[in-house]
Amino acid sequence: MKTQLLKINHLVQDGQKLDQAAKLLREGKLVAIPTETVYGLAANALDPDAAAAIYQAKGRPSDNPLIVHIAQPKDAQPLVQALPDVFFRLAQRFWPGPMTIILKKSAQVPSATSGGLDTVALRIPAHPIARELILRAGVPLAAPSANLSGSPSPTSATHCVHDLTGRVDAIVDGGECEVGVESTVLTLCTNPPKILRPGAVTLEMLREVLPDIELDAGVFEHLADDAKAASPGMKYKHYAPKARVVLVHSGISKFVQLLKEYPDAGALCFEEDVAQITQSGHTAIVYGKESDPKSQAHMLFGALRRVDDFALAQVFVRISDENGIGQAVYNRLLRAAGFEVIRL
Ligand code: TXA
Ligand code: MG
Repeated sequence: MKTQLLKINHLVQDGQKLDQAAKLLREGKLVAIPTETVYGLAANALDPDAAAAIYQAKGRPSDNPLIVHIAQPKDAQPLVQALPDVFFRLAQRFWPGPMTIILKKSAQVPSATSGGLDTVALRIPAHPIARELILRAGVPLAAPSANLSGSPSPTSATHCVHDLTGRVDAIVDGGECEVGVESTVLTLCTNPPKILRPGAVTLEMLREVLPDIELDAGVFEHLADDAKAASPGMKYKHYAPKARVVLVHSGISKFVQLLKEYPDAGALCFEEDVAQITQSGHTAIVYGKESDPKSQAHMLFGALRRVDDFALAQVFVRISDENGIGQAVYNRLLRAAGFEVIRL
């Protein structure tokens, strides 16, 4: 399959390219699109064949449901059984933005889209290109992250080109994603409601609307292989470079001491750490500033992709704060490390 690259610099001047992408989507084709979190691999959410093609292109297990992207809260109505009051309060506060809400689905949502579950995940993205494409396509768009299954989520069109050239009909290049980690996924189908995947809309922010919301056990714990995950995506090893990845809770001095015992290991670290790590003769790959957790989210997946450029056998990752958006960063790193964590 030939993959078209459509670079969008301006919504009006590049309107023809937007129409071209929207037409492909209406025809049941696959188009990688930018969102404010990560790039998504979009297709018509109401077309079972289009949804099935997404799984095929990503090499994704077919029991892992897709997020359905809509343009406004009322577009949720035909896709779900009922819209509780709290749905509108969450929508008002956090949409458009990096939050996904799970509700009981209606018959309109094909089982191929919902991974065989009786629920559907909904999101209104904030990225102007994503919103424009949903409107122009005129259908809700199913879109998982636009990476090959298992590899880090794509935060630039270059990442999508690397993973999906020849596998999708088009890639829309809208520049770098601002947030850098995927949306917060929460379910309103449990009592109390639960966060299944942390993101930029944090636990603290959600508690202002839903005081009783909790983190699902699978967010930070390793589920047994045969356990039933609340969110199927959480049971898979994910985001993983080829190198062995180990998380290290420690200050920089102890971290450097540890590195000295492993001369051929690299480090995934904070900008503040680089001088000390390179002085000890190790490769330092930066994933943001220790003092700025948002920058860590923004850079994380690009940094994980870079690990393999250095052909390292193993990499130690220095971890510090796990609050706020730091919960999202830690959740992704745990999966990249297959839950290997040490504390010094
Ligand atoms: O920011 C994002 O959410 C990006 C952009 C493209 O919107 N999308 C994304 O999709 O990250 P994906 O498919 O890579 O991750 C969706 C996660 C998976 O872990 C999946 O198992 C979970 O959400 N999920 C989707 N529908 C669900 C449902 N009905 N019940 C439980 N978990 C669900
Ligand atoms: Mg994904």
